[in-house]
Amino acid sequence: MPLWKILMERINYIEVKDLAQKIGTPFYLMHPDKYRKNISAFISAFQKRYSRIIAGYSMKTNFVPALCEIAKAMGCYAEVVSEMELDLAVKLGFENIIFNGPIKAEGALLKAISHHAIINLDSEYEVDFMCKYKNENPAIDLMVGLRVNVHLTDEKGNSTVQCGLREGRFGFAHDILSNNINRLRNAGIKIVSLHGHTSSSDRAVQNYRIISDYMLSICEEFRLDDLQYFDIGGGFFGAAPEGLDLKGKPLYEDYANAVLDMVLKNEWFQHRQPTIVIEPGSSVVSNVFTYYTKVYQLKHIGSKDFVMVDGSIFDVKPTMHCNNLPHRILSDNRDGACGVFDVVGSTCMEKDIILHDVELNKIKAGDYVEINGVGAYTIALTPTFINYLAPILSIENGEKTLVRRRQMIEDIITIYR
Ligand SMILES: Cc1ncc(COP(=O)(O)O)c(C=O)c1O
Repeated sequence: MPLWKILMERINYIEVKDLAQKIGTPFYLMHPDKYRKNISAFISAFQKRYSRIIAGYSMKTNFVPALCEIAKAMGCYAEVVSEMELDLAVKLGFENIIFNGPIKAEGALLKAISHHAIINLDSEYEVDFMCKYKNENPAIDLMVGLRVNVHLTDEKGNSTVQCGLREGRFGFAHDILSNNINRLRNAGIKIVSLHGHTSSSDRAVQNYRIISDYMLSICEEFRLDDLQYFDIGGGFFGAAPEGLDLKGKPLYEDYANAVLDMVLKNEWFQHRQPTIVIEPGSSVVSNVFTYYTKVYQLKHIGSKDFVMVDGSIFDVKPTMHCNNLPHRILSDNRDGACGVFDVVGSTCMEKDIILHDVELNKIKAGDYVEINGVGAYTIALTPTFINYLAPILSIENGEKTLVRRRQMIEDIITIYR
């Protein structure tokens, strides 16, 4: 997008000040247009070459109901990994649900069956449950999916599984697949989905070649001829906020082409033509939320200059990593201090440092700090800690809708009664 357009579309100081007067600070803005654009761009990257593609929006990444409802309206499936998320998907009216996750209690599995969810089994106890259920309910046409454990490596053979782990723990290891597939088949249960999600530390395109290749080999080895869903999972890069260095980062097309190059030349795949499922989370939602916090005080202590704000690190990076997120100061530009500052939060914890050693111009009390790219694993992970949860305003075509109000004392007390 040209710079002038980005600048035109950006919210300005007057608008933020106006919102702050109405709903207080800190607050989030949600940008539905960006979310829609990301989802359609990801889907069309596949559809250019293969029409059978479904996006299952990963609700754990950000479960703000107004956001999930957009995904639903766009035809996405809800990808859920717990009973809580399953309940939310049902409550929001999703008709199509993918139920993943390593631990699924019996009650949750029963609910998922009754909602005709695609249930991707992760462990043998789930196979036990399904076989028992089918035995007790022979008239029910039971269909399941299987998550396979995929080992990801880079070109040097080093593991690229999240956190550099040697082994990820999710899904069925190859040595127990045969037994479990046979048990399901013998019980009369169809295997309609194969799931290969594997979180990586590098989100590299190569990982999806490995995942697709392994999944194809499983389809062939075990003749999974009932398969309808070829689910490569999530963990992609994308939806980068403005200000992030994108050199060498993959595009949606890069992932789509890597997967399609592999599967479209495979005979089994050509013959069966299953629907490819992607489960995007961060890659469609990271840049959909921005955060605004107000400067209360500048402080100089020893060798350090601090900008003290009313927000907190828990609102923007609850995992407390040390990377500075893209940011911007909104001010009247009249005067203020210049220099290198730590922007620090309001939680009375020393490590509540929102931005480390950032160069700021003309900063003063009353200004606002905008933090970009807080859409993924932020709002869902923010605890009620010291402060009330901040409100979220959805902003589209100049129209603003409050999609979460600020938390109140009643919200906090009710759960303890
Ligand atoms: C099964 C599954 N699908 C999709 C995702 C979404 O991943 P991301 O937000 O990295 O795209 C995750 C995240 O861990 C996951 O576990």
